[in-house]
Amino acid sequence: MNVSPDFTPPIKLMKPYFLLTSFFYMLSMMWLFFINPQSPLDDFSIIAWVHLYMLGFVMMAIFSAMAQLGPVVTEAKHHNVYVFKYIWIFLTLGLSLMLVGFYINLNFLLYGGALVLVAMSIYIVEFFLTLKNARRKTTITTAMKMSNLFLLLGIINGLVMALGFNSYLDIAPHSLLKAHTFGLVVGFVTLLIMGISIILVPMFGFSKRISDDEFAKSFYTLCVGVILMLASPLFLTAQLEFASYALTIIAILLYFFQLLKMTKSRKKVVHDIWAKSIYVGFGSFIASFLLYIVYLISQDAEILKVASWIMLVGFFGFLIIGNLYKIIPFLLWFEIYSPLIEEQNVPMLHELLPSKLPTLQFIFSTIGLILSSFGLLIKEPIIFYAGATSLLFGAIFFALTVYKIFARNL
Ligand code: HEM
Repeated sequence: MNVSPDFTPPIKLMKPYFLLTSFFYMLSMMWLFFINPQSPLDDFSIIAWVHLYMLGFVMMAIFSAMAQLGPVVTEAKHHNVYVFKYIWIFLTLGLSLMLVGFYINLNFLLYGGALVLVAMSIYIVEFFLTLKNARRKTTITTAMKMSNLFLLLGIINGLVMALGFNSYLDIAPHSLLKAHTFGLVVGFVTLLIMGISIILVPMFGFSKRISDDEFAKSFYTLCVGVILMLASPLFLTAQLEFASYALTIIAILLYFFQLLKMTKSRKKVVHDIWAKSIYVGFGSFIASFLLYIVYLISQDAEILKVASWIMLVGFFGFLIIGNLYKIIPFLLWFEIYSPLIEEQNVPMLHELLPSKLPTLQFIFSTIGLILSSFGLLIKEPIIFYAGATSLLFGAIFFALTVYKIFARNL
């Protein structure tokens, strides 16, 4: 994998993304104390929390990681990396207005949604232009193209739902909900994580990489599954939804098999903070996957809530934080210390990470995830809030870690 300094975005440009990612993660965990865990999933306080977490933490983190990983995967320079100066501004403003929309005045959902659409469009256009110069066209670059397409469709879908809620369009907003959540959570976030993990697990985990053809099996199956779900509100709804669930289950089982193969081929096994976060992350993916299957059979809305909670906080949360513990030191080391290697002693990559804080984050977040999920499962708010308290401590340690890395090195 060719990692040239030309491909690496300036750390000063990415700093706001990393700081905002940790801030919004902390804010999401604090916000848990202002929602009732027993509210139904379509309660606007729950939906507002989902967008705070998915836009403020998950999307902000994905933008920061992709600014670095995109050029690495395509082995091409960014078309114009300086657009990243503006994306976080539109995303932060858009999210703030959307939260006002969910809580106070639905019109703000449209204004906020429009700003979010601007942020996503800048990211997607810059990414497609960078991909155009790609020296290597692989299944992973195709996966990135498709996931960006699903992102755009998912966002437009969200705006159409918002127009429906404001009675500007004569549609039943709920009828588009599955297409919206499936398009974004499966089509964009999960597909991107699957594609990137095929690169990062061998890179950070010292394992063999699976072939392009092999990844193609899970990738194309998942793509067809998402496309069917996006089409399902238009015609043959029940049949298309059923086919989409079946293909998605097959695609994820294929991916689990590929992941297992990579894990087994590790040349040396190092249980560092990255590896531990990956274990909890993928463990959560398997648990939520099984719970989603139980939900498809039982149609029990509480099971759907627990499965979604473990997917968002367990899978997305731990995978993002674990990889940021590698990506932030890497970017800093590359820009600040690699030019000094011949002249003076420079710190090792892992020395840029504070020693205790990430471990404290991992312990409190893991306890919090288990307790809060159990509290949701047995419908015991006290246990859920005990878990939320532990998650909040984990979030504070994460924010302190990110703050300290920059304070010490930049
Ligand atoms: C322009 C941006 C967006 C707008 C206007 C928007 C709008 C909405 C609306 C109105 C709902 C509630 C629909 C209903 O209850 O029927 C909703 C639900 C949802 N949205 Fe978005 N959304 C946007 C972006 C996103 C993004 C980027 C993600 C994830 C990456 C996302 C994930 C979800 C999820 C998971 C739900 C279901 C929440 C629940 O049922 O509790 N949305 N969205």
